Amino acid sequence: MTIQEALAAHKQIFIVCDRNVEGFARFLGDYPLLAIDTSEELKTMDSVLGICRWLLEQGADRGALVLAAGGGITTDMVGFAASIYKRGIDYANIPTTLLAQVDASIGGKTGVNLDSYKNILGTFRQPEFTYIFPDVLRSLPRREFLSGVAEMLKTFIIKDLNGGYEKTVRLVGEYVSGGVNPACTAEGLTELSALIQDASNVKQDIVDKDPLEKGERRKLNLGHTWGHAIEWWQRTHAAEGRQLSHGEAVAIGIVQAARRSEELGLTEKGLAARLKADFESCGLPTELPCPESELFKAMEKDKKAEGGKIRFVLPVKIGKVVVKSLPI
Ligand SMILES: NC(=O)c1ccc[n+]([C@@H]2O[C@H](COP(=O)([O-])OP(=O)(O)OC[C@H]3O[C@@H](n4cnc5c(N)ncnc54)[C@H](O)[C@@H]3O)[C@@H](O)[C@H]2O)c1
Ligand SMILES: [Zn+2]
Repeated sequence: MTIQEALAAHKQIFIVCDRNVEGFARFLGDYPLLAIDTSEELKTMDSVLGICRWLLEQGADRGALVLAAGGGITTDMVGFAASIYKRGIDYANIPTTLLAQVDASIGGKTGVNLDSYKNILGTFRQPEFTYIFPDVLRSLPRREFLSGVAEMLKTFIIKDLNGGYEKTVRLVGEYVSGGVNPACTAEGLTELSALIQDASNVKQDIVDKDPLEKGERRKLNLGHTWGHAIEWWQRTHAAEGRQLSHGEAVAIGIVQAARRSEELGLTEKGLAARLKADFESCGLPTELPCPESELFKAMEKDKKAEGGKIRFVLPVKIGKVVVKSLPI
C-alpha cells in the first residue's frame, strides 16, 4: 500500500515533523505542516500544548488525522497531542530514526517527560498505521543509528525471528563499524529493510497480545531497568564523562541483565560474554559508567518497581527472556 492510499480515507490531514526531516516530510503530500524542534528537554507538556494549539488554529476537527514524521520524540509527542486534542483524534507515524522504526513508533505508548523523569505523563493510543521508509535513514548520524541497533538487538534477543540477531550483528559489523551507513548502499538497504520489518513485526506481535503492558509486553523492557537508571545517573552527574544515548544505555543494561541471569542460574555461563563481544563489535558500550550501587536509587523509582521488588527482564538465550520480580 502506498502512503497516499493509506491516507485516502481521511479528509483532513496535518503533518507535524521534526525540523531535521522537514524536506522529507514535505514529500509526503501537500498538507498543512508544523516543523518542531526536538530534544529530551523539549519533550514536555508545553510542546504538546503547542501542537494542540496549532491544530486548533488550523481548524482540525474530530475526523482529522495527524501524521507524525520524525524520531521517537516526535512520534511520542504527536501521539500524545492526538490522544487529548478534542478527546482524541487519529494519528499515524512516519518514523525517521532506526529506533523509532523498530520501537518507538509501534505500540501506542505516547507521552512526555516531567522535570527530570522520563515519559511520566502519557497515554496509550494506537496509531492508525506506521509507515516505514527505510531509505530516510540515509541521513541518520552514526550514533543515532547505533542507538536504534541496540533496540533492534534487544528485540531479537526477545524473539529471534528469522535469525535477526546474528544478521544484525553481521550487518552492523560490516557497514556501520567501518563508517558506512547501510541505508546508503543498495545491498545494505535491502538487508536493513528486511531486519527493520522483522524487528517491527516482533514488537507489533507482542503489543497485539498485551497492548496495556500487563504481561508479555514487559519483555520489551529488557535492558531498560539498568538503562533508565544509567540515563538518570547521567542527568544528575552531567559533568562526568561522555553522555550515553538511550540505546547505548540499554546495550549496557542488556549485558548487566545477562550477568544477573547467569548469577541466578537462568542461563548457561557465557551468554553475557557473547552479548558483550557482539555489542562491542557493533560499536556499542557494555560497561556501567558508575558503580551499580549508585543506580539502585533510580531503579527504586522506576515504573517497574512494585512492593520493594523490581521486575527484571532476564535473557535465557538469544530468542528467549523471562520476567522475574526480585529485590534490588
Ligand atoms: N513510545 C514508545 O514505545 C517508545 C519506545 C522507545 C523510545 N521512545 C522514546 O523515543 C525517544 C527516542 O527516539 P529517537 O532516538 O528516535 O530520538 P529523536 O526523536 O530525538 O531523534 C534523534 C535525532 O535524530 C534526528 N533525526 C530524526 N530523523 C532523522 C533522519 N532521518 N536523518 C537525520 N537526523 C534525523 C532528530 O532530529 C534528533 O536529533 C525517547 O524520548 C524515548 O522515550 C518511545
Ligand atoms: Zn528503549
